[in-house]
Amino acid sequence: MREKLLIANWKMNFSVIESSKKSRQLEVLFEDKLQNRMQNKKNKSDVKIIICPNYLSLKSVHDILGGKLYLGVQSITHLSESEGAFTGEISGALVREFAEFAIIGHSERRNMLMETNSEISEKLLFCSKNNIRPILCLGENQETRSNDSHLTYVINQLRNSVSDFKEWGSLIVAYEPVWAIGTGVACEPEDAVQMIRTIRKELKIISGSDLIPVLYGGSVSSSNIGVLIDSGDIDGALIGTSSMNPLEFHEIINICTKMWGK
Ligand code: 13P
Repeated sequence: MREKLLIANWKMNFSVIESSKKSRQLEVLFEDKLQNRMQNKKNKSDVKIIICPNYLSLKSVHDILGGKLYLGVQSITHLSESEGAFTGEISGALVREFAEFAIIGHSERRNMLMETNSEISEKLLFCSKNNIRPILCLGENQETRSNDSHLTYVINQLRNSVSDFKEWGSLIVAYEPVWAIGTGVACEPEDAVQMIRTIRKELKIISGSDLIPVLYGGSVSSSNIGVLIDSGDIDGALIGTSSMNPLEFHEIINICTKMWGK
């Protein structure tokens, strides 16, 4: 059975104090699930909950949620796997003290910071070297979807990003159509499923594995998560806006654990 994951991407939000406050709220809301995890209880609806705060807040969030929920970062540098003269950069080796996951190739970085597939493939390798599980983001913009070339576009993104990658057991993929991010309008479930099936088929060809989890991201909320995961093809979600409200994030997780537990 494929792993199930629900990931909070807090993006460039929350001061250290605010991040700590949100973390304490999550700690209270997830008390029952935390106990399950700490007692190592396993059941069908087990889901990994991962919080990705900004770098500055990571240690404070770790102080509260470390060992309870999982933590991730929103990027790592492609310049070095460890340390060195790279002013302003943060490496996988540095974040590994607090985080087990890293979002790689988010469209906001691809588009606003001109991050390339070759940099992304470098970052994936540095994740492997530092024992960090990468959450590789893929997704087309509105123009590519209107041209009906989105399937080919995303598969090319995938191929170019994983060209040298080998740690298939660690990989998580997130399909995030750019036009659905932060708009309040998610992809239609059947369109998301079509893309995710296509990605899974390609991953099987490249890696030989059909166990790599593929998530959906883009305007996920408690009102659409049920229809999105209903077909069983989508293994979870990468969530921005709705993850910043602990009550809403908790509600999304409750809906998923109920549906996956059936
Ligand atoms: P929204 O949930 O705000 O659309 O953001 C999605 C996203 O970019 C997660 O990485």
